[in-house]
Amino acid sequence: MPPTDEEKPLLVVNCGQLLTIRGPRRPRAGQEMTALGLVRNGALLLKDRTVQLVGSEDRVCKAPESRGAVSLDARGKVVLPGFVDSHTHALFAATRVDDYVARIGGATYEQIAKRGGGIQASARRMRSASEPALVDHLERVVNLFLEYGTTTAEVKSGYGLEIAQELKMLRAIRAVATRGTFDLVPTLLAHDVPARFRTKRRQYIELVSQELIPQVAREGLAEFFDVFCDRGYFSIAESKTMMTAAASVGLQLKLHAEQMTHSGATKMAVGLRSVSVDHLDQVTDTDIRCLRGTGTIAALLPGTVLHLGSGRYPPARQLIDARIPVALATNFNPGSSPTLSMQMILSLACSQLRMSPAEAIVAGTINGAYAVGRGRLVGSLEVGKQADLVIMDASDYREIPYLFGMNHCETVIKKGRVVFSKGNA
Ligand code: NIG
Repeated sequence: MPPTDEEKPLLVVNCGQLLTIRGPRRPRAGQEMTALGLVRNGALLLKDRTVQLVGSEDRVCKAPESRGAVSLDARGKVVLPGFVDSHTHALFAATRVDDYVARIGGATYEQIAKRGGGIQASARRMRSASEPALVDHLERVVNLFLEYGTTTAEVKSGYGLEIAQELKMLRAIRAVATRGTFDLVPTLLAHDVPARFRTKRRQYIELVSQELIPQVAREGLAEFFDVFCDRGYFSIAESKTMMTAAASVGLQLKLHAEQMTHSGATKMAVGLRSVSVDHLDQVTDTDIRCLRGTGTIAALLPGTVLHLGSGRYPPARQLIDARIPVALATNFNPGSSPTLSMQMILSLACSQLRMSPAEAIVAGTINGAYAVGRGRLVGSLEVGKQADLVIMDASDYREIPYLFGMNHCETVIKKGRVVFSKGNA
Protein backbone atom coordinates (compact mmCIF):
# COMPACT_ATOMS: atom_id res chain seq x y z
CA MET A 1 0.00 0.00 0.00
CA PRO A 2 1.35 3.49 -0.80
CA PRO A 3 1.97 5.60 2.32
CA THR A 4 -0.80 8.00 3.24
CA ASP A 5 -0.06 11.72 3.45
CA GLU A 6 -0.06 11.38 7.21
CA GLU A 7 2.77 8.86 7.14
CA LYS A 8 4.84 10.84 4.65
CA PRO A 9 7.74 12.88 6.03
CA LEU A 10 6.88 16.50 6.70
CA LEU A 11 9.24 19.24 5.53
CA VAL A 12 8.76 22.50 7.43
CA VAL A 13 10.30 25.24 5.28
CA ASN A 14 10.74 29.00 5.35
CA CYS A 15 11.22 29.30 9.12
CA GLY A 16 12.25 32.96 9.54
CA GLN A 17 13.71 32.26 12.98
CA LEU A 18 14.11 28.60 13.87
CA LEU A 19 14.87 28.26 17.59
CA THR A 20 16.44 24.84 17.93
CA ILE A 21 17.51 25.24 21.61
CA ARG A 22 20.33 22.80 20.78
CA GLY A 23 22.95 22.39 23.46
CA PRO A 24 24.29 20.14 26.18
CA ARG A 25 22.14 17.15 27.13
CA ARG A 26 21.27 18.49 30.57
CA PRO A 27 19.28 21.38 32.07
CA ARG A 28 20.68 24.72 30.94
CA ALA A 29 22.13 27.08 33.54
CA GLY A 30 23.58 30.58 33.69
CA GLN A 31 24.68 31.90 30.28
CA GLU A 32 23.49 28.68 28.60
CA MET A 33 19.96 29.91 29.22
CA THR A 34 20.47 32.66 26.64
CA ALA A 35 21.45 30.23 23.83
CA LEU A 36 18.53 29.60 21.49
CA GLY A 37 20.45 27.87 18.68
CA LEU A 38 18.75 30.29 16.31
CA VAL A 39 18.85 29.47 12.59
CA ARG A 40 17.62 32.11 10.15
CA ASN A 41 15.83 30.75 7.09
CA GLY A 42 15.70 27.32 8.63
CA ALA A 43 13.90 24.10 7.84
CA LEU A 44 13.18 20.74 9.45
CA LEU A 45 12.46 17.31 8.11
CA LEU A 46 10.13 15.34 10.39
CA LYS A 47 9.76 11.60 9.94
CA ASP A 48 8.58 8.72 12.10
CA ARG A 49 7.49 11.18 14.79
CA THR A 50 11.01 12.56 15.17
CA VAL A 51 13.25 15.29 13.86
CA GLN A 52 15.31 13.78 11.03
CA LEU A 53 17.07 16.90 9.80
CA VAL A 54 17.27 20.45 11.12
CA GLY A 55 19.27 23.45 9.94
CA SER A 56 19.47 25.91 7.09
CA GLU A 57 16.71 25.57 4.52
CA ASP A 58 19.24 25.17 1.78
CA ARG A 59 20.88 22.16 3.39
CA VAL A 60 17.73 20.45 4.64
CA CYS A 61 15.80 20.84 1.38
CA LYS A 62 18.67 19.57 -0.76
CA ALA A 63 19.19 16.45 1.33
CA PRO A 64 18.11 13.25 -0.46
CA GLU A 65 15.93 12.25 2.55
CA SER A 66 13.74 15.32 1.96
CA ARG A 67 12.68 14.14 -1.49
CA GLY A 68 8.99 13.35 -1.64
CA ALA A 69 8.19 14.94 1.72
CA VAL A 70 5.00 16.95 2.21
CA SER A 71 5.96 20.60 2.52
CA LEU A 72 4.63 23.03 5.14
CA ASP A 73 5.47 26.72 4.65
CA ALA A 74 6.14 28.59 7.92
CA ARG A 75 5.97 31.84 5.92
CA GLY A 76 9.04 33.44 7.50
CA LYS A 77 7.71 33.10 11.05
CA VAL A 78 9.20 31.94 14.33
CA VAL A 79 9.39 28.17 14.87
CA LEU A 80 10.31 26.70 18.26
CA PRO A 81 9.88 23.50 20.30
CA GLY A 82 6.47 22.97 21.90
CA PHE A 83 6.33 24.27 25.46
CA VAL A 84 6.79 21.80 28.31
CA ASP A 85 4.58 22.86 31.21
CA SER A 86 6.29 21.22 34.17
CA HIS A 87 3.86 22.10 36.98
CA THR A 88 0.07 21.88 36.64
CA HIS A 89 -2.99 20.84 38.59
CA ALA A 90 -4.91 20.66 35.32
CA LEU A 91 -7.35 17.99 36.46
CA PHE A 92 -10.09 19.50 38.60
CA ALA A 93 -13.84 19.05 38.77
CA ALA A 94 -14.89 22.71 38.90
CA THR A 95 -13.57 26.24 38.82
CA ARG A 96 -13.32 28.29 42.06
CA VAL A 97 -14.58 31.60 40.85
CA ASP A 98 -16.09 32.32 44.31
CA ASP A 99 -12.59 32.22 45.84
CA TYR A 100 -11.47 34.67 43.16
CA VAL A 101 -14.23 37.13 43.93
CA ALA A 102 -13.63 36.78 47.69
CA ARG A 103 -9.96 37.62 47.14
CA ILE A 104 -10.88 40.68 45.11
CA GLY A 105 -12.89 41.68 48.19
CA GLY A 106 -9.76 41.41 50.36
CA ALA A 107 -9.74 37.83 51.68
CA THR A 108 -6.40 35.99 51.52
CA TYR A 109 -5.74 32.50 50.13
CA GLU A 110 -5.22 31.27 53.71
CA GLN A 111 -8.43 32.88 55.02
CA ILE A 112 -10.45 31.36 52.19
CA ALA A 113 -8.94 27.95 52.93
CA LYS A 114 -9.83 28.27 56.65
CA ARG A 115 -13.49 28.84 55.76
CA GLY A 116 -13.59 25.60 53.73
CA GLY A 117 -12.78 27.09 50.34
CA GLY A 118 -9.50 26.47 48.52
CA ILE A 119 -8.18 22.94 48.08
CA GLN A 120 -10.87 21.46 50.39
CA ALA A 121 -13.59 22.93 48.16
CA SER A 122 -11.94 21.35 45.10
CA ALA A 123 -11.76 18.03 46.99
CA ARG A 124 -15.50 18.13 47.74
CA ARG A 125 -16.23 18.68 44.04
CA MET A 126 -13.80 15.93 43.06
CA ARG A 127 -15.67 13.40 45.21
CA SER A 128 -18.81 13.71 43.09
CA ALA A 129 -17.01 13.61 39.73
CA SER A 130 -16.97 10.27 37.91
CA GLU A 131 -13.79 8.97 36.29
CA PRO A 132 -15.27 9.28 32.75
CA ALA A 133 -16.24 12.90 33.48
CA LEU A 134 -12.67 13.61 34.58
CA VAL A 135 -11.35 11.98 31.43
CA ASP A 136 -13.62 14.22 29.31
CA HIS A 137 -12.49 17.29 31.21
CA LEU A 138 -8.82 16.44 30.76
CA GLU A 139 -9.30 15.76 27.05
CA ARG A 140 -10.68 19.28 26.67
CA VAL A 141 -7.78 20.72 28.63
CA VAL A 142 -5.28 18.82 26.46
CA ASN A 143 -6.81 20.35 23.33
CA LEU A 144 -6.44 23.79 24.88
CA PHE A 145 -2.83 23.08 25.83
CA LEU A 146 -2.11 22.25 22.19
CA GLU A 147 -3.91 25.36 20.97
CA TYR A 148 -1.60 27.46 23.17
CA GLY A 149 1.57 25.67 22.05
CA THR A 150 2.11 23.31 24.97
CA THR A 151 2.90 19.80 23.77
CA THR A 152 3.91 18.13 27.07
CA ALA A 153 2.50 18.81 30.53
CA GLU A 154 2.89 17.44 34.01
CA VAL A 155 -0.45 16.87 35.79
CA LYS A 156 -0.78 16.37 39.52
CA SER A 157 -3.43 14.56 41.51
CA GLY A 158 -4.03 16.26 44.86
CA TYR A 159 -7.71 17.21 44.74
CA GLY A 160 -8.73 13.70 45.84
CA LEU A 161 -7.03 13.69 49.26
CA GLU A 162 -8.71 10.36 50.17
CA ILE A 163 -6.98 7.29 48.74
CA ALA A 164 -9.80 6.21 46.42
CA GLN A 165 -10.19 9.73 45.08
CA GLU A 166 -6.47 10.18 44.44
CA LEU A 167 -6.42 6.87 42.56
CA LYS A 168 -9.46 7.97 40.54
CA MET A 169 -7.63 11.13 39.48
CA LEU A 170 -4.47 9.28 38.51
CA ARG A 171 -6.42 6.66 36.55
CA ALA A 172 -8.19 9.43 34.63
CA ILE A 173 -4.80 10.97 33.81
CA ARG A 174 -3.54 7.59 32.63
CA ALA A 175 -6.62 7.08 30.45
CA VAL A 176 -5.90 10.33 28.60
CA ALA A 177 -2.14 9.73 28.49
CA THR A 178 -2.52 6.30 26.89
CA ARG A 179 -4.39 7.82 23.95
CA GLY A 180 -0.96 9.07 22.90
CA THR A 181 -2.04 12.36 21.35
CA PHE A 182 -0.32 14.41 24.04
CA ASP A 183 2.43 13.70 26.59
CA LEU A 184 1.12 13.87 30.14
CA VAL A 185 3.50 13.30 33.05
CA PRO A 186 1.55 12.10 36.11
CA THR A 187 2.46 13.21 39.63
CA LEU A 188 0.96 11.99 42.89
CA LEU A 189 0.54 15.05 45.11
CA ALA A 190 -0.02 15.18 48.86
CA HIS A 191 -1.89 18.47 48.82
CA ASP A 192 -3.76 18.73 52.14
CA VAL A 193 -5.10 16.57 54.96
CA PRO A 194 -8.71 15.41 54.40
CA ALA A 195 -11.20 16.95 56.85
CA ARG A 196 -11.79 13.69 58.73
CA PHE A 197 -8.06 13.36 59.49
CA ARG A 198 -7.65 16.89 60.81
CA THR A 199 -7.01 15.68 64.36
CA LYS A 200 -5.24 12.52 63.21
CA ARG A 201 -2.56 13.90 60.92
CA ARG A 202 -0.05 11.23 61.78
CA GLN A 203 -2.49 8.53 60.69
CA TYR A 204 -2.97 10.26 57.34
CA ILE A 205 0.78 10.55 56.75
CA GLU A 206 1.06 6.82 57.47
CA LEU A 207 -1.81 6.05 55.10
CA VAL A 208 -0.17 8.03 52.31
CA SER A 209 3.28 6.56 52.97
CA GLN A 210 2.28 2.96 53.57
CA GLU A 211 -0.80 2.50 51.36
CA LEU A 212 -1.28 5.19 48.74
CA ILE A 213 2.31 5.54 47.58
CA PRO A 214 2.98 1.78 47.30
CA GLN A 215 -0.28 1.22 45.43
CA VAL A 216 0.42 4.06 42.99
CA ALA A 217 3.87 2.60 42.37
CA ARG A 218 2.49 -0.93 41.90
CA GLU A 219 -0.02 0.29 39.32
CA GLY A 220 2.54 2.57 37.65
CA LEU A 221 0.14 5.49 38.03
CA ALA A 222 2.69 8.24 38.67
CA GLU A 223 6.27 9.12 37.79
CA PHE A 224 6.70 11.84 40.41
CA PHE A 225 5.67 12.47 44.00
CA ASP A 226 5.12 16.00 45.28
CA VAL A 227 3.99 17.62 48.56
CA PHE A 228 2.52 21.03 49.37
CA CYS A 229 5.02 21.86 52.12
CA ASP A 230 3.90 25.13 53.66
CA ARG A 231 2.29 26.66 56.74
CA GLY A 232 -1.18 25.17 57.22
CA TYR A 233 -0.47 22.24 54.87
CA PHE A 234 2.39 19.76 55.44
CA SER A 235 5.38 20.36 57.70
CA ILE A 236 8.97 19.62 56.77
CA ALA A 237 8.98 16.44 58.87
CA GLU A 238 5.68 15.21 57.40
CA SER A 239 6.81 16.01 53.87
CA LYS A 240 10.11 14.25 54.39
CA THR A 241 8.42 11.09 55.67
CA MET A 242 6.18 10.87 52.60
CA MET A 243 8.93 11.79 50.15
CA THR A 244 11.26 9.18 51.60
CA ALA A 245 8.53 6.55 51.20
CA ALA A 246 7.97 7.67 47.60
CA ALA A 247 11.66 7.59 46.73
CA SER A 248 11.95 4.08 48.20
CA VAL A 249 9.44 2.75 45.64
CA GLY A 250 11.13 4.53 42.73
CA LEU A 251 9.07 7.70 42.36
CA GLN A 252 11.03 10.83 41.45
CA LEU A 253 10.53 13.85 43.68
CA LYS A 254 9.26 17.40 43.37
CA LEU A 255 8.29 19.80 46.13
CA HIS A 256 6.07 22.86 46.54
CA ALA A 257 8.68 24.90 48.40
CA GLU A 258 8.86 28.39 49.93
CA GLN A 259 5.61 29.53 48.32
CA MET A 260 3.65 31.43 50.97
CA THR A 261 6.11 31.21 53.84
CA HIS A 262 9.74 30.26 54.17
CA SER A 263 9.96 26.79 55.70
CA GLY A 264 13.33 25.34 54.78
CA ALA A 265 11.65 23.03 52.26
CA THR A 266 14.30 23.74 49.62
CA LYS A 267 17.13 22.46 51.78
CA MET A 268 15.17 19.33 52.66
CA ALA A 269 14.27 18.66 49.01
CA VAL A 270 17.85 19.08 47.86
CA GLY A 271 18.91 16.56 50.51
CA LEU A 272 16.46 14.06 48.97
CA ARG A 273 17.71 14.80 45.42
CA SER A 274 14.44 16.30 44.32
CA VAL A 275 14.28 16.84 40.55
CA SER A 276 12.72 20.27 41.10
CA VAL A 277 11.68 22.69 43.80
CA ASP A 278 8.66 24.70 42.72
CA HIS A 279 7.40 28.24 43.49
CA LEU A 280 10.32 29.68 45.57
CA ASP A 281 8.65 33.07 46.07
CA GLN A 282 10.14 33.24 49.59
CA VAL A 283 13.48 31.59 48.81
CA THR A 284 16.50 33.00 50.70
CA ASP A 285 20.15 33.59 49.82
CA THR A 286 21.03 30.57 51.96
CA ASP A 287 18.61 28.39 49.97
CA ILE A 288 20.14 29.63 46.74
CA ARG A 289 23.60 28.68 47.97
CA CYS A 290 22.24 25.30 48.95
CA LEU A 291 20.73 24.73 45.47
CA ARG A 292 23.95 25.62 43.64
CA GLY A 293 25.55 22.76 41.79
CA THR A 294 22.98 20.18 42.93
CA GLY A 295 21.17 19.80 39.59
CA THR A 296 17.79 20.45 41.26
CA ILE A 297 15.76 22.68 38.96
CA ALA A 298 14.05 25.84 40.24
CA ALA A 299 10.55 25.74 38.70
CA LEU A 300 9.09 29.24 38.89
CA LEU A 301 5.35 29.90 38.68
CA PRO A 302 4.79 33.66 38.30
CA GLY A 303 1.14 33.27 37.20
CA THR A 304 0.36 32.39 40.82
CA VAL A 305 1.87 35.59 42.19
CA LEU A 306 -0.05 37.62 39.62
CA HIS A 307 -3.37 35.90 40.26
CA LEU A 308 -3.14 35.88 44.07
CA GLY A 309 -1.77 39.41 44.11
CA SER A 310 0.73 38.19 46.69
CA GLY A 311 3.30 40.62 45.35
CA ARG A 312 6.56 38.73 45.81
CA TYR A 313 7.90 37.17 42.63
CA PRO A 314 10.69 34.58 42.87
CA PRO A 315 14.21 36.00 42.38
CA ALA A 316 14.86 34.57 38.92
CA ARG A 317 17.89 36.77 38.24
CA GLN A 318 19.63 35.68 41.40
CA LEU A 319 18.90 32.03 40.64
CA ILE A 320 20.19 32.32 37.08
CA ASP A 321 23.26 34.24 38.19
CA ALA A 322 23.95 31.43 40.68
CA ARG A 323 23.84 28.99 37.72
CA ILE A 324 20.76 27.19 38.99
CA PRO A 325 18.70 25.86 36.06
CA VAL A 326 15.36 27.67 35.99
CA ALA A 327 12.14 26.30 34.48
CA LEU A 328 8.89 28.21 34.03
CA ALA A 329 5.43 26.66 34.32
CA THR A 330 1.80 27.76 34.50
CA ASN A 331 0.73 25.98 37.72
CA PHE A 332 -2.63 25.77 35.94
CA ASN A 333 -5.22 25.20 38.71
CA PRO A 334 -8.62 26.57 39.71
CA GLY A 335 -7.40 28.36 42.84
CA SER A 336 -4.10 30.14 42.50
CA SER A 337 -3.33 30.19 38.77
CA PRO A 338 -6.21 29.68 36.36
CA THR A 339 -4.21 29.95 33.15
CA LEU A 340 -2.71 27.33 30.88
CA SER A 341 -0.94 29.84 28.65
CA MET A 342 2.82 29.37 28.73
CA GLN A 343 3.05 32.47 26.54
CA MET A 344 1.50 34.53 29.35
CA ILE A 345 3.95 33.00 31.82
CA LEU A 346 6.85 33.97 29.54
CA SER A 347 5.54 37.55 29.50
CA LEU A 348 5.43 37.65 33.31
CA ALA A 349 8.89 36.12 33.51
CA CYS A 350 10.25 38.92 31.33
CA SER A 351 8.37 41.89 32.73
CA GLN A 352 8.27 40.91 36.42
CA LEU A 353 11.16 38.47 36.94
CA ARG A 354 13.49 40.34 34.55
CA MET A 355 14.33 37.26 32.55
CA SER A 356 15.31 37.93 28.96
CA PRO A 357 12.98 36.55 26.25
CA ALA A 358 15.65 33.97 25.36
CA GLU A 359 16.00 32.81 28.98
CA ALA A 360 12.23 32.56 29.32
CA ILE A 361 11.97 30.40 26.19
CA VAL A 362 14.73 28.06 27.39
CA ALA A 363 13.00 27.85 30.79
CA GLY A 364 9.67 26.98 29.16
CA THR A 365 11.05 24.34 26.79
CA ILE A 366 14.22 22.36 27.50
CA ASN A 367 14.46 23.13 31.24
CA GLY A 368 10.74 22.31 31.64
CA ALA A 369 11.45 19.03 29.85
CA TYR A 370 14.23 18.15 32.30
CA ALA A 371 11.98 19.12 35.21
CA VAL A 372 9.62 16.31 34.17
CA GLY A 373 12.28 13.79 33.23
CA ARG A 374 11.76 14.22 29.46
CA GLY A 375 14.87 16.24 28.58
CA ARG A 376 16.25 13.55 26.25
CA LEU A 377 12.96 13.33 24.36
CA VAL A 378 11.48 16.83 24.00
CA GLY A 379 12.21 20.51 24.69
CA SER A 380 14.60 21.14 21.77
CA LEU A 381 14.61 20.56 18.02
CA GLU A 382 17.59 18.27 17.52
CA VAL A 383 18.01 15.20 15.36
CA GLY A 384 16.40 12.18 16.99
CA LYS A 385 14.15 14.12 19.33
CA GLN A 386 10.38 13.98 19.20
CA ALA A 387 8.96 16.27 16.52
CA ASP A 388 6.93 18.60 18.78
CA LEU A 389 7.00 22.16 17.49
CA VAL A 390 5.07 25.35 17.13
CA ILE A 391 4.88 27.99 14.40
CA MET A 392 4.22 31.35 16.06
CA ASP A 393 2.60 34.26 14.25
CA ALA A 394 5.67 36.44 14.88
CA SER A 395 8.73 37.44 12.90
CA ASP A 396 10.94 37.97 15.98
CA TYR A 397 10.87 35.56 18.94
CA ARG A 398 10.93 38.48 21.38
CA GLU A 399 7.41 39.38 20.26
CA ILE A 400 6.10 36.24 21.99
CA PRO A 401 6.44 37.68 25.52
CA TYR A 402 6.24 41.30 24.37
CA LEU A 403 2.73 41.11 22.88
CA PHE A 404 1.35 39.75 26.12
CA GLY A 405 -1.98 38.09 26.82
CA MET A 406 -2.30 36.96 23.21
CA ASN A 407 -2.11 33.54 21.65
CA HIS A 408 0.52 33.71 18.90
CA CYS A 409 0.26 30.01 17.99
CA GLU A 410 -0.50 29.46 14.37
CA THR A 411 0.35 25.80 13.86
CA VAL A 412 1.20 23.08 16.37
CA ILE A 413 2.91 19.85 15.37
CA LYS A 414 2.94 16.91 17.79
CA LYS A 415 4.97 13.78 17.04
CA GLY A 416 5.39 14.98 13.46
CA ARG A 417 1.67 15.60 12.75
CA VAL A 418 -0.17 18.90 12.53
CA VAL A 419 -2.59 18.83 15.49
CA PHE A 420 -3.62 22.49 15.53
CA SER A 421 -3.85 25.07 12.83
CA LYS A 422 -5.33 28.50 13.52
CA GLY A 423 -7.21 28.69 10.25
CA ASN A 424 -8.99 25.45 11.07
CA ALA A 425 -9.61 26.05 14.77
O1 NIG B 1 0.61 25.39 43.55
N1 NIG B 1 0.23 25.52 46.45
C1 NIG B 1 -0.42 24.53 46.33
N2 NIG B 1 -1.13 24.15 45.28
C2 NIG B 1 -1.55 25.05 44.27
C3 NIG B 1 -2.84 25.71 44.59
C4 NIG B 1 -3.93 24.77 44.36
C5 NIG B 1 -5.28 25.34 44.64
O2 NIG B 1 -5.46 26.38 45.27
O3 NIG B 1 -6.21 24.64 44.21
C6 NIG B 1 -0.40 25.97 43.94
O4 NIG B 1 -0.50 27.19 44.02
